[in-house]
Amino acid sequence: MEKNESADEHLEMEPKREKERDHNDEGSDSEEDREEEIRDRECHEREKKMSDKKQRAKERREKRRQEISLLRTIPYSDHQRWWSADTIAVVTGANRGIGFEIVHQLALHGVTVILTSRDAAVGEEAAKVLQEGGLNVFFHQLDIVDPSSIKAFCEWLQQNYGGLDILVNNAGVNFNYGSVNRLEFSEQVIVTNYFGTKNIIKAMIPLMRPSASGARIVNVSSRLGRLNGRRNRIGDLSLRHQLEDMDSLSEELIDKTVTTFLDQVKDGSWASGGWPQTYTDYSMSKLAVNTYTRLMAKVLSERPEGQKIYINCYCPGWVKTAMTGWSGHTSPEEGADTGVWLALLPDQVVTGKFFSERREVSF
Ligand SMILES: NC(=O)c1ccc[n+]([C@@H]2O[C@H](COP(=O)([O-])OP(=O)(O)OC[C@H]3O[C@@H](n4cnc5c(N)ncnc54)[C@H](OP(=O)(O)O)[C@@H]3O)[C@@H](O)[C@H]2O)c1
Repeated sequence: MEKNESADEHLEMEPKREKERDHNDEGSDSEEDREEEIRDRECHEREKKMSDKKQRAKERREKRRQEISLLRTIPYSDHQRWWSADTIAVVTGANRGIGFEIVHQLALHGVTVILTSRDAAVGEEAAKVLQEGGLNVFFHQLDIVDPSSIKAFCEWLQQNYGGLDILVNNAGVNFNYGSVNRLEFSEQVIVTNYFGTKNIIKAMIPLMRPSASGARIVNVSSRLGRLNGRRNRIGDLSLRHQLEDMDSLSEELIDKTVTTFLDQVKDGSWASGGWPQTYTDYSMSKLAVNTYTRLMAKVLSERPEGQKIYINCYCPGWVKTAMTGWSGHTSPEEGADTGVWLALLPDQVVTGKFFSERREVSF
């Protein structure tokens, strides 16, 4: 009986304990529920803030797009047009995308444009499209990383046109898409986007014709290459300062920065090198283009009056081209706009600056 009693007691005790346990569980459940509710609410608020921010950015972009569309409808007056059909512009990598549109728009403004492309067949076809529209566009092959192609182009340009007045360095490559940060093509990216652009600037400067309005160089770059961007910047503060300070900035420093980066990619240590974390190689190539633009503006400012060359760079935005897999929110026409505007600035006093949507932005 004792045994039974104790068994009954035990049986009686069970529901009681269960009730207690249920009660305790209820307590912790509701606490957990409350915490979860708070987390959900915070997460929801964060998401709402993000989507509000995105919405505001979208609205700002749309507003600016409308302003620029309006500006583009205002024709240049005669006294603003320093150029004529005798003005020669050269655009690199112009068989498609933003480069093609830059050629198109410059030619619509009445400039004679040399459309260049590394592949002769596609370049000729692209030029033909514009020629059929009655525009002064001519083709020549130019691979910005091939010294023999650059030499042949310089000779042809000198012989046929006696030089040039506008250079748009547009050719470029990128192998990163979405959130993928690829580094296996880093060398090609740096060699094309930075060293290729530099090759063409060096080859073209002696061919730039003297004029009262000054010759112009426009480099198509990217905000991803900003030295002091909020995100994705170089982690090494001292290197950033050296690249920023005009007294310490030099071609050797820019070259050394990109070659150090490439060496670290090769030996696998780049991840701890403090380089930009997304679109790393592309960002580095454009950072080099931006800093080289500032450096060259200083060098070229020493040229005498009448032989001035002004140099600026710009970001075309996120443009629907082959480079982005046709994602992005800007058309190639809009992406070309700031480059064309910079090339044709009526009173060119601007040099060594970085632009986006016809406005100066910080490097
Ligand atoms: N799309 C964007 O969102 C975006 C944003 C910021 C900056 N950008 C810059 O805008 C410029 C134009 O890009 P995109 O968007 O118009 O891209 P794209 O359609 O891929 O055009 C790139 C052009 O560069 C040419 N190119 C590549 N390597 C060359 C070389 N070694 N010599 C001569 N030409 C070469 C390509 O020729 P092939 O046809 O032979 O390959 C092509 O014509 C690039 O400098 C890019 O970095 C673009």
